Parts: sequence; C-alpha cells; structure tokens
Amino acid sequence: MTPLLSARALMKSFGGMAATDRVDLDIPPDRIRGIIGPNGAGKTTLVHLLTGHLLPDSGSITFEAQEITNLPAHERVVRGLCRTFQVVDVFERLTVYQNVQIACITRQRRNLRFFTPSSREAREEVERALNEVGMWEFRHRRAEQLSHGQQRRLDLAVTLATEPRLCFLDEPTSGVSPKERDQMLDLIRSLASARRTTFVIIEHDMELVFQLCDEVTVMHRGAVLAEGAPAEIRANEAVREVYLGEEV
Ligand SMILES: Nc1ncnc2c1ncn2[C@@H]1O[C@H](COP(=O)(O)OP(=O)(O)OP(=O)(O)O)[C@@H](O)[C@H]1O
Ligand SMILES: [Mg+2]
Repeated sequence: MTPLLSARALMKSFGGMAATDRVDLDIPPDRIRGIIGPNGAGKTTLVHLLTGHLLPDSGSITFEAQEITNLPAHERVVRGLCRTFQVVDVFERLTVYQNVQIACITRQRRNLRFFTPSSREAREEVERALNEVGMWEFRHRRAEQLSHGQQRRLDLAVTLATEPRLCFLDEPTSGVSPKERDQMLDLIRSLASARRTTFVIIEHDMELVFQLCDEVTVMHRGAVLAEGAPAEIRANEAVREVYLGEEV
C-alpha cells in the first residue's frame, strides 16, 4: 500500500545532540499508528518535523506522494496534515462553540470559497464537529470552565474542523482522569472508523496504544528502535530492555 506519509533519514539536532537521528517512517492510510518511547526519545520533535513546526537539518518528507519537507505548517494543514499539541491549545476565554467556529472560519478562508457560507451552514458545521466529540451540550461554556479531558476533546474538535486526512495526536490522554482516558480511546476509535482520517498517536500510556493501534513505532534516543503490531512490540527484546522494569 502506498504510504500516506513517508519520512526518510530525518535529522534534527539541538546543540549537537540529535533529537531525531536519521528517522525513516511510513504511515499507511486508514490505520491507527502509535508512537511510543521513553521521555526525550524524540517523539515530539518528530511530530514537529512532520507537521512543519520545525524544519529538519536534512532528510525528506512526502505526503500523498508530494514533497513537503520545507513547507510551512499552515500549508500542510491546507493539504490535510494536522495535529494537536502535547499541551492543550484552546482559547480559554472563548466558549466551546466559538473555539470551533474560529477553526471552521479558518478552513473556509483556506478553501477560498467565493461565497461565505450562510450562518445556518456555518452553524451546522460547528454542531457536527462538537457532536462528534460529544461536546455539543457544553457549547456555551468557556473553555477555561471545562475539565482537562473536556478541553482535550474540544482541542480535537478544533483540529477535526480542518478536515484532516492525517492527524497527529501528541499525548491525547495526558493529565486526564481514567474515565476521560477511556472516553478518549473510544472517541479516537470511532472517529477513525467514521471519517477518512488516519491517526498517529504519541502516548506514554502503553496499554492504550496496544488496545487502540494497528501498528506501533518505538523510538529511543532519536531513532526508530522497533516497529510492528502490538503483539510483536510487546514481545520485542530490545523494546523490553528500554522499558526495563515496566510491563510491556
Ligand atoms: N527546542 C529544543 N531545544 C533544545 N533541545 C530540545 C528541543 N526540543 C527537544 N529537545 C531535546 O531533544 C530530545 C527529544 O525531545 P522530544 O521532546 O522530542 O522527546 P519526546 O520523546 O517527545 O519526550 P516526552 O515523552 O518527554 O514528551 C530531548 O533530549 C530534548 O531535551
Ligand atoms: Mg513529547
């Protein structure tokens, strides 16, 4: 299967230390990929490179068979490549509704639609995105009044409003309660099957990754240490060594 996204020999150093070290990665379409690895393994740096929030020192990236290595982040979003951040990124003083509305307006501008959509059309779009993540009933709340798990779901609605083909989620369950974690797991699973969106999930919660993902990439010291189905990764000796003392 032709990959949706491919990276070849991606290098990024900070002060002489390689945060990503010649990373090769292929993300096939319509699957859920997990990326795991200890703190400082280079996961977030890799996502920054793939989504255009950082430019690599060397190496290349293609998305839907087009080279995007040095394309700015907003132009990658236009092509359907987007992400959420490790830290929730919503406008706290705005309502849930307004947060998603802004994302929809951004997307409509991007599509260079000659006619602005009617207010009914625009409202339907916001409603759809909020219903998808189960947040419609909270539409009048300001983002700062939400629980952390609800903020993460709102963040996801904002990202989905850009209608991505490929979406990176950097630690979507960090800091949320166990119940909210399970809700997020179900939500990602249902979004992946209901939409044409491919998800790549960076997580420390290995149980979640093993339950949710079709394939898992393990990073260690900036490089890809192992890749495979959850069962293969669980059984991999090198992976066990990196996570020595933890249940893999
Ligand atoms: N902007 C930066 N300036 C300097 N060093 C950086 C920068 N960003 C990342 N690093 C370093 O690069 C390495 C990889 O960091 P990165 O944040 O990509 O790891 P990570 O796998 O996402 O870790 P975590 O699981 O803690 O989120 C670390 O050693 C980190 O200190
Ligand atoms: Mg990180």
